[in-house]
Amino acid sequence: MKIDILTLFPNMFDGFLNESIIKRAIEKEVVSINVVNFRNYSKLNNSQVDDTPYGGGAGMVLMCDPIVSAIEDLKVDDTTVILMTPQGNPYKQETARELKLKKHIILVCGHYEGFDERIRNFVDMEISIGDYVLTGGELPAMVICDSVIRLLDGVIREGSHIEDSFTDNMLDYPTYTKPYDFRGMKVPDVLLSGNHKNIEEYRKEESLKRTKERRPDLLDK
Ligand code: ADE
Repeated sequence: MKIDILTLFPNMFDGFLNESIIKRAIEKEVVSINVVNFRNYSKLNNSQVDDTPYGGGAGMVLMCDPIVSAIEDLKVDDTTVILMTPQGNPYKQETARELKLKKHIILVCGHYEGFDERIRNFVDMEISIGDYVLTGGELPAMVICDSVIRLLDGVIREGSHIEDSFTDNMLDYPTYTKPYDFRGMKVPDVLLSGNHKNIEEYRKEESLKRTKERRPDLLDK
């Protein structure tokens, strides 16, 4: 998979791309990530990328040309262009599973007051990571990269995402490790029984109980 990220703040991605699982996925060439400063596509003096809004109002608006030129330069036949915006479709694990199948994704990160409405004609999807407003699309782009890359073959232990929260619209079951007794709180006996059928049943029940308590909305689906 190839991911191009269009941003005015490429340094924000340094830590994200150079640590832990994402770093390893890049080294193993499961994914290649290209962070592009779309300011480089500006044809104006001082590499200007934004201007005041028509009709007045606070703040600056990202102009069409630098972003659209960058998209057109990087796009190939089967590219999916995604705009990060609080007005987009709510991001779900299901969306991550859908994006995992794509060959090439371009993530467009806005900043400031927003972007010229006409940019919407050059994207395939709009995604929001939640009902709150961030200073830009960089964190949402990292959220999307992280959740999609961990699903790619060879990135995390085979089969481990089959048990993830939100698979089958259920939250994950509780897990424990050593010590057996922490300040009087003991690990449920069934997990030490060695009986795999009982363990599987216990986990299914706990998963359902937790989902009912915390996210009953998931069970309606
Ligand atoms: N840009 C600013 N806030 C955002 C959000 N919640 N989701 C996606 N992009 C954003």
